[in-house]
Amino acid sequence: MRVVLGVGGGIAAYKSALLLRLLSEGGHDVTVVPTDAALQFVGAPTWEALSGRAVQTDVWSNITDVPHVRIGQEADLVIVAPATADLLAKAAHGLAGDLLTNVLLTARCPVVVAPAMHTEMWEHPATRANVATLRERGVHVIEPASGRLTGADTGPGRLPDPETIHEAALAAVDGDATEDLTGTRVLVSTGGTREPLDPVRYLGNRSSGKQGVALAEAAAARGATVTLVAANVSLPVAAGIEVVPVQTALELQEQMSARAADHDVVVMVAAVADFRPADYAESKIKKTHDPADPDAAPTIRLVRNPDILAGLVAERTGGERPMIVGFAAETGDGSGSVLEHARAKLERKGCDLLVVNEVGRDLTFGRDETTVIVLRRDGGEPVELGPASKRVVADGIWDAVLDSLPTR
Ligand code: CTP
Repeated sequence: MRVVLGVGGGIAAYKSALLLRLLSEGGHDVTVVPTDAALQFVGAPTWEALSGRAVQTDVWSNITDVPHVRIGQEADLVIVAPATADLLAKAAHGLAGDLLTNVLLTARCPVVVAPAMHTEMWEHPATRANVATLRERGVHVIEPASGRLTGADTGPGRLPDPETIHEAALAAVDGDATEDLTGTRVLVSTGGTREPLDPVRYLGNRSSGKQGVALAEAAAARGATVTLVAANVSLPVAAGIEVVPVQTALELQEQMSARAADHDVVVMVAAVADFRPADYAESKIKKTHDPADPDAAPTIRLVRNPDILAGLVAERTGGERPMIVGFAAETGDGSGSVLEHARAKLERKGCDLLVVNEVGRDLTFGRDETTVIVLRRDGGEPVELGPASKRVVADGIWDAVLDSLPTR
């Protein structure tokens, strides 16, 4: 497919280099059309080396080739990432002062725009009106993510991950931006709990929260109303998803239990600590300096945390609703294979679906690619998904959920 990647003049331009990579690796023929301002952030050699094509920003080079008309006319897909407030304004008003804005006027293919700017600019009525105009005309404007912006400030305005833009762009071409979860209320837990020992220390785990965020974003993109209970997650999350931050297993349990009954599907992705310190020290635990016992160290006594997933199953009073999906991070051992352990866990926890992946220290945690098997309690065949990005696997999990979901 012939793709035009328009790059606006924002700090997030560097992320578009990764997007370009994804598009090229997918076998697409990509022409990069930066604005002059974009080249202040990422220079022409980067775009030329990654795309294998010369780049130009104005309409005065290669005149005989009529690039200001041809590039747009021939495109099968135009993506603009990042789109600045200025670029959105120019596109909405049909200005054509440089090559990219000419491409936007001549393209008749799907156009996908990923804005990135500071929250104040994104929320300004002028930008809102420009976005509304573009959407009315059929341009796919992706919601920016919330999270850390260029400075120390946070809020909506971050460019979504290259994978998210890539997927939204391909979906726009397929014309099947499926909305098959419209009307479905989804509650997802993600991240890893932290169990405090004293004011500065905690027992935690390596979970990044990526898979849960991918599930939440995939569901939202398919029309679901999504709440994400996020334990210590520092990732950006697409705007439109309600995020409830928590730290400990008990806080996570409280939020999940209080909300589960109002949802159609509950997905427990969070890595919940099975144990927490029995006692919390109000002040920092100090070393002793006893010359007679220089190696003295405290013993930390642990107590069990509740099994939140099993608790949600037990609390379910409305028949099959909500559908409950568990995750299992398994390793095979002397007493059984990954799958045997997982089947036993599905029985033990009583959930409807169990998404299983095999973990080793460095196999999955924090990585973008994953492979999972979805086990179903209703006796349906297990579904294997991946290796693929966590977002692609997330869509496969939602397909499996939809397969098993009683009619809404
Ligand atoms: N889970 C939970 N509460 C816990 C522990 C885990 O709700 N205290 C949930 C996780 O969110 C996940 C599933 O249970 O959906 C499986 O987690 P895992 O840690 O693999 O299961 P465990 O029950 O801890 O199994 P084991 O320690 O026997 O491997």
